[in-house]
Amino acid sequence: MAQVDAASNVSDYDRFRELFTRRMSVRDLRADPIPDDYVEKILEAGRWAMSGANSQPWEFIVVREEQIKQQLVEAYVQENSEFIFWMEQTRLPALRHPQFQVEGDPAEQWEHLRNRLGAWGQAPVLIAILGDGRRQWGTVLGALTFGRHQSHLTDALSNAATLMHLAATSLGLGSQHVTIHIQEPFKRVLDVPDLLMIHHILPIGFAKIDRKPTVRRPLADMVHYDRYDRSKYMSNQQIVDYLYSLRGKTMAAYHAYRQHGRADE
Ligand SMILES: Cc1cc2nc3c(=O)[nH]c(=O)nc-3n(C[C@H](O)[C@H](O)[C@H](O)COP(=O)(O)O)c2cc1C
Repeated sequence: MAQVDAASNVSDYDRFRELFTRRMSVRDLRADPIPDDYVEKILEAGRWAMSGANSQPWEFIVVREEQIKQQLVEAYVQENSEFIFWMEQTRLPALRHPQFQVEGDPAEQWEHLRNRLGAWGQAPVLIAILGDGRRQWGTVLGALTFGRHQSHLTDALSNAATLMHLAATSLGLGSQHVTIHIQEPFKRVLDVPDLLMIHHILPIGFAKIDRKPTVRRPLADMVHYDRYDRSKYMSNQQIVDYLYSLRGKTMAAYHAYRQHGRADE
């Protein structure tokens, strides 16, 4: 039965819903320090995540040192983002990730953009989420076949991250997900052993600006009962139309930061 707090008449679910709808990616964080015990609480939430056969394939590096943060930002701009920027130029402009929808000569645009890509490095604390694929052997061998590859590993890391983002929100902090596409330079900065991977970096801190509430597709679009409801199945063409309309909605989240003279990730 749903738990309801007698004094406030608020159910656990209502409280939880308030939390997960309040959480949103905050890409402009203040450099002000955050209490040490907040970091501990966020890590503790990650520790309790679900994982295949409870193999717990995660480890975390808490980065506070300025020099290391700057080296991570450099790796992000020079290796990760440069690659992403140029790959995005191969797509139709309106379908590119909002951050990479530039006009004019791409080489010139890249020079402008690159200086603004590391805003997350200002966060007082970065948590690098690492995965140890060897721990995956805790689960069934079949989990790693037929195209599933590393999914048990990365699924577990995402679960840990989700709890950590929610924990950050519950503490009044902002957080974001910085995807690491090319791991090697980051591994060198953090001295991560070869057999481990860096999944992503989670910057946390107090938010600089208020952001508009985030949006989601309606539940009715994504839920089926008993069987897949084919009337909801989108053709390939509808998916492309959807991607155009998605860009129309997601640009705003990125523009919020641009208006404040910042780019975001
Ligand atoms: C797998 C994954 C990768 C993501 N990569 C990035 C990223 O590299 N940079 C970024 O700013 N946000 C990243 N995000 C955050 C999403 O952009 C964000 O969750 C989404 O736009 C919904 O917005 P919200 O988090 O504000 O609700 C990522 C999220 C996930 C789950």
